[in-house]
Amino acid sequence: MSVPGCTMVIFGGTGDLAHRKLAPAIYNLHLEGRLPSDFSLVGIGRKQKSDSQYRQELAASISKYSSSTWDEKQWQTLALKIHYHAGDMRYAENYLPFKNAVEACNIESGGNGNYLYYMALAPHLFTPIAENLKLHNMTAGESGWRRIMIEKPFGYDLSSARKLNNTLSAVFDEENIYRIDHYLGKEMLQNILVIRFANTIFEPLWNKRFIDHVQISARESDGIGDRGRYYDRVGAMRDMFQSHLLQMLALMAMEPPLKADPDTIRTEKLKLLNAVHLWPEEESKSNLIFGQYYGYMQEKDVAAYSQTETYIALKLAVNNSRWQGVPFYLQTGKKLEDKLVKIVIQFKSPPSFYFGDPLEGVYKERSDLINLLTLKVQPREGVVFQFNIKKPAAIEEVVPAEMDFCQPCAFMINTPEAYELLLLDVMNGDQTRFSSWNEIESSWILTDSIYSQHRKSLGNFDIYEAGSMGPESAADMLIRDGRHWW
Ligand code: BG6
Repeated sequence: MSVPGCTMVIFGGTGDLAHRKLAPAIYNLHLEGRLPSDFSLVGIGRKQKSDSQYRQELAASISKYSSSTWDEKQWQTLALKIHYHAGDMRYAENYLPFKNAVEACNIESGGNGNYLYYMALAPHLFTPIAENLKLHNMTAGESGWRRIMIEKPFGYDLSSARKLNNTLSAVFDEENIYRIDHYLGKEMLQNILVIRFANTIFEPLWNKRFIDHVQISARESDGIGDRGRYYDRVGAMRDMFQSHLLQMLALMAMEPPLKADPDTIRTEKLKLLNAVHLWPEEESKSNLIFGQYYGYMQEKDVAAYSQTETYIALKLAVNNSRWQGVPFYLQTGKKLEDKLVKIVIQFKSPPSFYFGDPLEGVYKERSDLINLLTLKVQPREGVVFQFNIKKPAAIEEVVPAEMDFCQPCAFMINTPEAYELLLLDVMNGDQTRFSSWNEIESSWILTDSIYSQHRKSLGNFDIYEAGSMGPESAADMLIRDGRHWW
């Protein structure tokens, strides 16, 4: 079935997201022949510029950030579908020329009457823009659809998220609101449910009887770049934990859905999110580490005495019968030694009579006999299973071995960027890879409660060196439990 085209309107068309992610995704789709022919794009910004200037700027970003190689001929055909409109969209008086411009674009590209509004700008602008769209009859029409994509952060806390949701719900029907968590468009996140439910050997072991603990890491080597104004207001908890980390946790730990449809999957994720809590403190040993990299306060647009965390590590519990007693350790941070995202499942060690002498009742503890299942989200997607074998020629020496599945090596195709899939999903009207309002609400309830816990413990944070593995306290949190970060 062919994908219905639309006129995509990017509010924030000159911003970082449009340049780094959206334009490269659209270019890739075009190269792969997956962009509908009746697609057009209107970038909105405040500065005056011509279509050709805007196209040139996007071309420069695409050749820098796209995973595909530059193809001038292909670009020239795509460029014709790209337009620019200047205006400050907070103000109602700017909407008539804007409306005329996007309608003209839609007619030029085939007149399908479908409009996709993409909010790729500062969150405080979401509300005035949505309200103005409604005021100018741009949220419904005689033909075609009107859909809105909302970038995270969806609010800054529970109450602002609720307010934003109320505004959007007054303007668009729920089925036309697409709340983005771009991690849900990553290939390996989509793969989690398949790995779990399409393999008899995993799902029966996916519980407290066999799993010792789970680690979810999203580490980044970059700092905050030019995003100080945004980042200093949110920090690692709101930027990464509330959305990406919790979505990974939900997919990894949710109950099997009865059907593979969006509502059923989102309902199971929601149930899981509602069961997540910070692991209770043991003898005032904190299970919540906030860190900040050395030099962060000197970054552009960051407050001189900023208390914003650039790293967090925490130990969570999932209070349901599947996961009772199994710790989930999560960490994320900027300016760390490496850039990687992965989920590691450590299984319980096997009973090890074999390595002792049962007749003498000697039974060696072999907690070093570990099975690990690693779901590698990026940079190289894959699945690694670590198991134990006898070292050749040694009598009793057991050593770890790995089965390593590399997804791009096996399929020899470029993994589509998350935004490519998400844009096609919206054009197709498929909500599966988008967060429901209930999931977002539940994630904010948890995030707010963790912040208040942090404030109760005096809100301290640990400084770590740029390029390190993060604060030592994060390593200590696991060492205390006889474990370490993988
Ligand atoms: C974004 C965060 O949502 O995700 C950024 O705002 C972060 O701070 C980015 O760098 C990470 O995304 P990815 O796809 O590079 O892992």
